[in-house]
Amino acid sequence: MEVLKMDNKGRGITYYNNKIVFINNALPSEDVDITLILDKKRYSIANVKNYIQKSKDRIKPKCPYFNNCGGCQLQHLSYKNQINYKFTTLKKEFNKIGIDIVNKIIFDKDFYYRNKLTLQVNNNIGLYSINSNDIVNIEKCIICDKLINEKIKYLKLIDTKKCQQIIIKSFNEQVMLVVIGDNDIILDQIIPYFDVVYVNSKKIKGDKLIANIGNIKYYISPNTFFQVNPYVTYKMYNHIKNLCINNNSKNVLDLYCGCGSISLFISKFVDYVYGIEINSQAIKDANDNKKLNKINNVSFECDDAGNITISNKFDTIIVDPPRSGLDKRIIKQILENKIANIIYVSCNPITLIRDLELLLNKYNIKDIQPFDMFPNTYHVECICHLILK
Ligand SMILES: C[S@@+](CC[C@H](N)C(=O)[O-])C[C@H]1O[C@@H](n2cnc3c(N)ncnc32)[C@H](O)[C@@H]1O
Repeated sequence: MEVLKMDNKGRGITYYNNKIVFINNALPSEDVDITLILDKKRYSIANVKNYIQKSKDRIKPKCPYFNNCGGCQLQHLSYKNQINYKFTTLKKEFNKIGIDIVNKIIFDKDFYYRNKLTLQVNNNIGLYSINSNDIVNIEKCIICDKLINEKIKYLKLIDTKKCQQIIIKSFNEQVMLVVIGDNDIILDQIIPYFDVVYVNSKKIKGDKLIANIGNIKYYISPNTFFQVNPYVTYKMYNHIKNLCINNNSKNVLDLYCGCGSISLFISKFVDYVYGIEINSQAIKDANDNKKLNKINNVSFECDDAGNITISNKFDTIIVDPPRSGLDKRIIKQILENKIANIIYVSCNPITLIRDLELLLNKYNIKDIQPFDMFPNTYHVECICHLILK
């Protein structure tokens, strides 16, 4: 089979009997024998059985688990080619709605960047394999930071029969372990190797970690969202800050604000920020973060962003929704209230483009800035700045 192109999930594409076939770990121009792993009416998914002809762009993946692990999809490309691939793919997606103003991707380091590792547990402790719920046993994960990697060896002290998932977070040389499993799991042997330990939501040792992005400090709890790549997050938050400064933002609404990370980062450069977030622990952290940084011109509220009433006192709305994109109720209200600036932070270009199609009725796109928040995976983060027509 000749691989014709790549899809937006980093898979090779070919056609067989008029049906699209997605091939894991296959690059354009490669000639491969395949094994079907899923055969549906309209598409199939395959693995490569044998490479007859390899692409000149193919490199040896640094990670020994790449061929089986579902965590990364692009380690068979150099980092330069990963960035080219993501840029071309994004441009094609935005072109579909007539947009041709995507900036070059901003990036930082390609390995040892992640501050969070989530491991699945059955008899093995590892990551889901490509296209299945089998677990690939891992002893290292080289996209995670070095301290996380140092701690993985201690996980074999955990009773896997009483555990379903393990999360390790690391910030400023401190490491948190979160074990999801039976409440009576005994962790005595492993506790000394971690600074903070939780079983489910129960605190076993320590309390929280403290992260910082630029000059702002943030408490990190076991079950709240925090950006996984601090190097690119710093660049991304600076970009948001600059958009606020350049557009003279004063009253800012930060929807899906998490632990207040963007609100606090931009607070010095605007008059006031209101943050809305559905996770009550994240709102508690946001209020603690406000105190920790001695910032007074922000307030936070726990609510479903779709439930709130957006007033026209805001000149700027920042939205940073999950992969599913914006709630339709929010889009309706933004359109009705004619807010001057929208800064849409998205980790999923597909839902971003879907939402932009509606917003473009009353807004023009001023700037689209992609960030490589997740090197070696197909994921990409984008900030889209829209201004009222
Ligand atoms: C991608 S994170 C962004 C967090 C934050 N802006 C940051 O940079 O760290 C999305 C956040 O939206 C929150 N969320 C999800 N659904 C929500 C909803 N319906 N209303 C408000 N917040 C929601 C999640 O809990 C999560 O904290």
